[in-house]
Amino acid sequence: MKTIAVIGAGTMGNGIAHVFAQKDFKVNLIDVNAAQLERALGTIAKNFERQVTKGTVTAEEKEKAIKQITPFQLIAEGVKDAFLVVEAATENTELKLNIFREMDAHAPANCILATNTSSISITKIAAATKRPQQVIGMHFMNPVPVMKLVEIINGYATAAEVTETIVALSKELGKTPCVVNDYPGFIANRILMPMINEAIYSLFEGVAGVEEIDTVMKLGMAHPMGPLQLADFIGLDVCLAILRVLHDGFGQPKYAPCPLLVNMVTAGKLGVKSGEGFYQYTAGSKELVVSKSFKK
Ligand SMILES: NC(=O)c1ccc[n+]([C@@H]2O[C@H](COP(=O)([O-])OP(=O)(O)OC[C@H]3O[C@@H](n4cnc5c(N)ncnc54)[C@H](O)[C@@H]3O)[C@@H](O)[C@H]2O)c1
Repeated sequence: MKTIAVIGAGTMGNGIAHVFAQKDFKVNLIDVNAAQLERALGTIAKNFERQVTKGTVTAEEKEKAIKQITPFQLIAEGVKDAFLVVEAATENTELKLNIFREMDAHAPANCILATNTSSISITKIAAATKRPQQVIGMHFMNPVPVMKLVEIINGYATAAEVTETIVALSKELGKTPCVVNDYPGFIANRILMPMINEAIYSLFEGVAGVEEIDTVMKLGMAHPMGPLQLADFIGLDVCLAILRVLHDGFGQPKYAPCPLLVNMVTAGKLGVKSGEGFYQYTAGSKELVVSKSFKK
C-alpha cells in the first residue's frame, strides 16, 4: 500500500486525507495543532458516515478507510515513508517556504512535493527546495470529497514525469485533472476573482442590489450560487488576498480590489466565517438573508 502525507488538517487537509484513504492509500495526516488533528479525524468520520447513509460507501469501506489515516504532529515523522506529500497548510508564503524546506530535508529523495495553495507561486515554493523538478501544484476544490476538479499547476522546473504521475493519481481518485502553468491565480482564481470583484464593484456603484446581482448570475448564467454569496463562502479576506496577488503579479489596474471589499475586510465582515458579509448568517447559511448594510 502506498503512503501519502498531507500537511495541514484544516478544511482542505481533512478532505484530501479523506479522498486518498477512500482509494486505499495509507495517509499520514500532519498538523502542528493537536486539537485540529483530532477535529479533522472527527470530521472525516462524520463525512464518511454521510456517504454510508447516501449509499456511496459501505460501512466496511468506511471503517477500513478511517483506519488508514494516522495523525502526526511532526513533519519529519509524517513524511519519511511517503511517495507523495500534499501540503495544505495555512495560506502564508513564509510558512509554506519553511514547510517545504522541512519536507525536502525529510521526505525520500524520489518523493513528489505538491502544494494545494490557491495563489502562491509554485516556482517560488519549488525554489525553496533542492528538488524543484519534483514540486507541483495540486489544487483541490472545497469540499474535496464532492468537487471533481483538480487544477494541476506546473512550476517553471516541474518535470513532465511528475505532472504525468499527478494526472494519473488525480484520475485514480475519481477526479478530473486540468494541467495549467504557474502564473498568478493559475486559471481558477484568475477568472473567478475578477468576476467576484466586478460583482462587488456593481454593488458599490449602485448598479444593482445584492439579491439582483446574485439572481442574474444564478438564473441567467446557471451558476449554482451568485458571486456575492460565493465570496461570502470563500471568505472576503481570502478573496482580497488573491486579488492582491493578481494585482501585484500582473501590475494591471483591472485586478485592483474594489474599495468596498477592502472596507468590509477591515471592518471584520468576512462572510460565513464571521457571521456576516453580503448576507447575514446568524441563523445559519441555509437561508439567504441580505446583510442590513445592503438592505434597500
Ligand atoms: N478553503 C478553501 O476553500 C480552499 C480551496 C482551495 C485551496 N485552498 C488552499 O488550501 C490550503 C489550506 O487551506 P484551508 O482552508 O484548509 O486552511 P485551514 O486554516 O482550514 O487549515 C490550515 C491548517 O494548517 C495547519 N498548519 C499551520 N502551520 C502548519 C505547519 N507548520 N505544519 C503543519 N500544519 C500547519 C493549521 O493548524 C491548520 O489546521 C491553503 O493554501 C489554501 O489557500 C483552500
